[in-house]
Amino acid sequence: MPCILSRLQGTNLTKDKMQIFEKEKRIIRLQHELFNDHFQNYKVYNIPKAQLIIADIPYNVGINAYGSNPSWYIDGDNQNGESKLAGKEFFDTDKDFRISEFLHFCSTMLKKEPKERGKAPAMVVFCEFEQQFELIEKAKKYGLNNYINLVFRKNFSAQVLKANMRIVGNSEYAIVLFRDKLPKFNNNGKMVFNVMDWERDSSMEKIHPTQKPIKVLEKLIKLFTDEGEVVIDPVAGSGSTLLAALNCNRNAYGFEIKKDFFKAASELLESKKLEKEEIEKYGWAKTAASKIHPVFDFGVIND
Ligand SMILES: C[S@@+](CC[C@H](N)C(=O)[O-])C[C@H]1O[C@@H](n2cnc3c(N)ncnc32)[C@H](O)[C@@H]1O
Repeated sequence: MPCILSRLQGTNLTKDKMQIFEKEKRIIRLQHELFNDHFQNYKVYNIPKAQLIIADIPYNVGINAYGSNPSWYIDGDNQNGESKLAGKEFFDTDKDFRISEFLHFCSTMLKKEPKERGKAPAMVVFCEFEQQFELIEKAKKYGLNNYINLVFRKNFSAQVLKANMRIVGNSEYAIVLFRDKLPKFNNNGKMVFNVMDWERDSSMEKIHPTQKPIKVLEKLIKLFTDEGEVVIDPVAGSGSTLLAALNCNRNAYGFEIKKDFFKAASELLESKKLEKEEIEKYGWAKTAASKIHPVFDFGVIND
């Protein structure tokens, strides 16, 4: 991006120009970067420390990923026989995830505990129900002594094949981990229930089998950080956390080892960055709009 300061320096700035300048300054300041690497290699990238780490860790379910999901069968009906998802993993990195290495990363990359109250960093870890206990126990070894459990309520269940058990799961779990001081909490002094709605959004294309909804991520980012602060997702998948951070004017960094996810996520992230930049600058998303309504050059028409 050209240096706006040098373009505007010495000029008599009108109010409008000043507003554009302020917006551009903000866009330049914000960083959103996804790395195609293991988070364990974070030192190479020299990224800043985070006010919030959001991570949706692999559930380590291996080949049982679709075990209670109707997609195990063709058209969701067991009369039709098994589909190509039967006995498959969500992704081939959904096993052997090392929670201790993950917690080491988080305790290193979370900002230091501040002196003041109400400013402490936190992490939110989406996980499978039983992983919560392991996380809570192991986190203490890394100084993350405190937790709050979160439950997200879906209005659907992916486990309908468990219907013979009468109770099917419609929840997602996460835990908020923090050191000693309570995390920064932005909600105008109002409390928040630990059971929240799982707001699905159809706006984002599906890149990853366990993609988290942007709306849910935005809510968490707004609660635990201020504009301009840093959010890190060490297991980024579709890059949903980075996109949510972009929407909320926070900086974000992420890691994803699978090439395919990384490629799709990076492309989406770059297009959303451009879209936001254009909306802030011109009031509309020029590039995206020209893809929907291309301007054809028909040349000279001779009757
Ligand atoms: C549960 S998925 C995350 C999905 C993501 N929350 C989303 O909304 O799209 C976990 C991701 O972590 C990646 N992963 C596993 N181990 C990793 C590691 N050591 N470093 C970076 N990424 C890793 C996997 O390839 C997988 O895509």
